[in-house]
Amino acid sequence: MSDKTVLLTDSASNRTSTLPLVSGSMGEPAVDIGRLHKDLGYFTFDPGFVSTASTRSAITFIDGDKGILLYRGYPIEQLAKQSSFLEVTYLLINGELPNAKQFGAFEDEVTHHTMMHESLKNFLHGFHYDAHPMAMLCGSIASLSAFYHDTLDISDPEQRRLAAIRLIAKMPTIAAAAYRYSIGWPVRYPRNNLEYCTRFLHMMFEVPSEPLALNPVVAKALDLLFILHADHEQNASTSTVRLVGSTGANPYACVAAGIAALWGPAHGGANEAVLKMLAEIGDAKNVGVAVAKAKDKNSGFRLMGFGHRVYKNFDPRATIIRETCHQVLGALGVNDPLLDVALALEEVALKDPYFIERKLYPNVDFYSGLIYKALKIPTEMFTVMFAIARTAGWVAHWLEQHQDKDTKIGRPRQIYTGAVTRNYTSIAKR
Ligand code: CMC
Repeated sequence: MSDKTVLLTDSASNRTSTLPLVSGSMGEPAVDIGRLHKDLGYFTFDPGFVSTASTRSAITFIDGDKGILLYRGYPIEQLAKQSSFLEVTYLLINGELPNAKQFGAFEDEVTHHTMMHESLKNFLHGFHYDAHPMAMLCGSIASLSAFYHDTLDISDPEQRRLAAIRLIAKMPTIAAAAYRYSIGWPVRYPRNNLEYCTRFLHMMFEVPSEPLALNPVVAKALDLLFILHADHEQNASTSTVRLVGSTGANPYACVAAGIAALWGPAHGGANEAVLKMLAEIGDAKNVGVAVAKAKDKNSGFRLMGFGHRVYKNFDPRATIIRETCHQVLGALGVNDPLLDVALALEEVALKDPYFIERKLYPNVDFYSGLIYKALKIPTEMFTVMFAIARTAGWVAHWLEQHQDKDTKIGRPRQIYTGAVTRNYTSIAKR
């Protein structure tokens, strides 16, 4: 807490409230409004939490104007180039990069928790064959609380840690099983001799009748995408995990709630929506029409993969992904006409005053779908990919929340706009 304050005067009553400023290690300070209601009898009104910090956190820092993203202080560009998803997961959860011994132990523990309970297969089989994999993932992750009673005591740090490991380890297994169920393939068990992303790709694509020939470019690209999606401070799904967590709910229920929040097209569902949009546009010559439609408020259409609540300059993840997209498609010899549509769309939008004035730039989801497509990940699985990666962030925030003495149940207030007090009339008189 800094010793700086903000003085607020209520012009109607002339009463004042002296509100302290709260500063972190980086970034803009925030006004602590905790005593506002007591002093002046007012709440604050901030739909969408545009100006509201909901917590302190030491995990991820974003400077939206400068396009900076740091995980535990490390720039995303450095992690993308030099680290691996599992190492980043360790970093997010523990606060420091692991040494070789620590990483070996972490990888070993994650690897040995990748199996899912055999009964979970029956659970998946209860879904209709064409269920969306996000629906299956959300339901199956929530069901884990029924399988792991031994990690439901959230007051025990060791049980919390074990739950975090289980979620990181089992998420790819369950995601791949959901996909295979939807196409009628038998579930493939995790292979412990493979690293995290390669193991996932085997669970997705290996058939019992022949070994899988996997181009290492594919696992490398997936690992990079997972690093870029691993955390993004108080985004909608992470805030959901924290809100549910604030009630004392178990970690599996919290993460299932996070998956549900991620599914929306304004959030993680955007990567699936981008590909559908590019396919609908169909050809670079049609991008002008799409941009005009996106500017027309009556059309109900937005350019998917464009805009961000925090980034008002560029999304550093999008810069990395754009470059990677070219590399991966080149290395895999994929010639995707939708990449030409995406490039043309980006070029037209970035020159358009509507997008310039509103500071709307391509976000992380604009190019990620094209890479997933080149890796032969089906479109309905794109948001599932995001969920696997974001699990690292969700559990890191859930763990942090349970160590924070200031954590209280999340309970926003409202401005009531309904009917004023009135008397009940019997049905005969209505
Ligand atoms: N296409 C056209 N217009 C847009 C777009 C877009 N993609 N995004 C924002 N705008 C306009 C919006 O209509 C508004 O215009 P005006 O000021 O005239 O009313 C202005 O820009 C500000 O938009 P907003 O909705 O108030 O901004 P927000 O911060 O509440 O929303 C957003 C951020 C990401 C939800 C929004 O930009 C959007 O819907 N983008 C498309 C979906 C998308 O790509 N989502 C992925 C986000 S990044 C990854 C993730 O979070 O999972």
